[in-house]
Amino acid sequence: MSEQQQDAADAEVETAAAAETDADTEPAAPDEQTSEKLVELAKRRGYFFQSSGAYGGVGGFYTFGPQGAALKGNVEDAWRDRFAVAEGNMEIDAPTIMPEPVFEASGHLDGFDDMLVECPECGESHRADHVVEDNTEYEDAESLPIPEVEEVIAEYELVCPSCGAGLADQAVETFNLMFATNIGPGDSQPGYLRPETAQGIFVEFPRLKEYARNQLPFGVTQIGRAYRNEISPRRSIIRTREFTQAELEYFVDPEEDEPDLADVADVEVTLYPATEQNDDDGSEIETTIGEAVDEGIIGDEWVAYFLGVAKPWYDAVGVDMDRFRFRQHLSGERAHYAADCWDAESEIDGNWIEMAGFAYRSDYDLSKHAEYSEDRFTVFRQYDEPKTVERATVDPDMSYLGPEFGGDAQAVVAELESLAGRDRDAFEDDSVEVELDGERHEIPVEKTGFAVEEQTEAGEHIVPHVVEPSFGVDRLVYTVLHHAYAEDEVDGEERTYLALDPEVAPTFVGVFPLQNDDELEATADEIVANLRDVGLSVTYDDSGNIGRRYRRQDEVGTPFCVTVDYETLENEETTVTVRERDTTAQKRLPVSKLPEIMAELRAGELEFDEL
Ligand code: GLY
Repeated sequence: MSEQQQDAADAEVETAAAAETDADTEPAAPDEQTSEKLVELAKRRGYFFQSSGAYGGVGGFYTFGPQGAALKGNVEDAWRDRFAVAEGNMEIDAPTIMPEPVFEASGHLDGFDDMLVECPECGESHRADHVVEDNTEYEDAESLPIPEVEEVIAEYELVCPSCGAGLADQAVETFNLMFATNIGPGDSQPGYLRPETAQGIFVEFPRLKEYARNQLPFGVTQIGRAYRNEISPRRSIIRTREFTQAELEYFVDPEEDEPDLADVADVEVTLYPATEQNDDDGSEIETTIGEAVDEGIIGDEWVAYFLGVAKPWYDAVGVDMDRFRFRQHLSGERAHYAADCWDAESEIDGNWIEMAGFAYRSDYDLSKHAEYSEDRFTVFRQYDEPKTVERATVDPDMSYLGPEFGGDAQAVVAELESLAGRDRDAFEDDSVEVELDGERHEIPVEKTGFAVEEQTEAGEHIVPHVVEPSFGVDRLVYTVLHHAYAEDEVDGEERTYLALDPEVAPTFVGVFPLQNDDELEATADEIVANLRDVGLSVTYDDSGNIGRRYRRQDEVGTPFCVTVDYETLENEETTVTVRERDTTAQKRLPVSKLPEIMAELRAGELEFDEL
């Protein structure tokens, strides 16, 4: 900064008349390099940076610095307020390592793969679908079968993104994304770092349903780390190997439960349904949640409900609604558990990135855990009126089965019970056939005690269906920063600032004594203490000239700065200069009212220009 520029910046606090603004209020349109500039700013100002830099760094792991951790915490709190507290859902905190059977059941052990292609020259591994998408007109290579991806790589003569060697003859292989570990010494109990927080909720369902008093619908949330051993992590914190998810698993009775769609019917949304994506002339649709459900664009009402809840929430935390849409997954793109899925996407430097998925997971997860575990993953659905039903039962003659089958007699009983339940016609003849360890056995029906009885039933056990809004916190933090990034000119000097929403800004107010002066500093200290007393995040800065201090807070995205100057001490009523970040407008406000005013500004109960 030149002397002249510094003077101009210094003068800002002294000369700006109340409520006047020197800034061009329209920020310059972010250019394609915004991400580059943002990543540099993020490192310099303590938002995020690659971890373990002292050891050369490792791809896909990022540390959130003081500002980033605070921003992320504020975003998580805002999510918790909306998706747990306001919806009446329960929050849990489960371990990040789970034993192998959990992931055998969930399907992640077999089906959670990406396509890998290894360079024959430099040995670097790449995601084959990304190599295809980045260099051809294919937009959704992930949904292509492996042989087709190999064909495309050969046909387009695609090369290694790292060294340029040809990849045409390389086999494309599947690569499981889970991080494996051993639980305890030795390798007798394999475990995995969870690839989604969701499984920590599903496996605890038998206990969680008790907390919900066995009443559907109910929701369980979890905010926590998840891990995916990405083949090629990229784009800073957008695709990392360790990341934070905020997930809601909402358990419903698919036949009985309906969402309060009226609450969100008027929410305006930009939708990009699969049909439009598959149509050469297709485009995004501007509609409302209510219309989208009525017209069958969004097939499931629960998914529609949560899209309707999410849209205003994204707006409130600072996502630019002109760069936001919901896109439906194409059929080949859906995860193995999802019957339907819509992503919330934000536009970053001309690309759409996924920030959340809203999946209809049906009864997939709970049925799988019921199948693989010993526990019960059902809820009792009470009938309006008790029903009389016919039940086929068996009461085998053990004096016959015992001698006949010895140690296998109980297994034969289980087979007979199961057969009676599913195929009572099998008992129509004189004998019935059961299979045991691949061997067939004939049993006289008279020895099975087969009977059909009328029973009165009050209800039935059903496996709930799951609707899952799953948010990627890191990607949202990146979007919020990117959409907040702005450049303008103040007093002829270029300025960069983050127009962060006050609800999520890591620091709410900066307090500066104009100069190194005991009296100014003592007053500033007192102001800091009083503002912290009302729960505000405050930073004190007395280093460098005042213009530089403003620039620092602008870059961090601090919505307000308070400067204690000589007028503060001279006036009968103690007043300070309060400056608003985006407009740089300044006002003199009484110190005695500062905590109250600032708390109201933070809560959104007051606007600066109303003062
Ligand atoms: N639970 C959904 C996901 O992790 O993508």
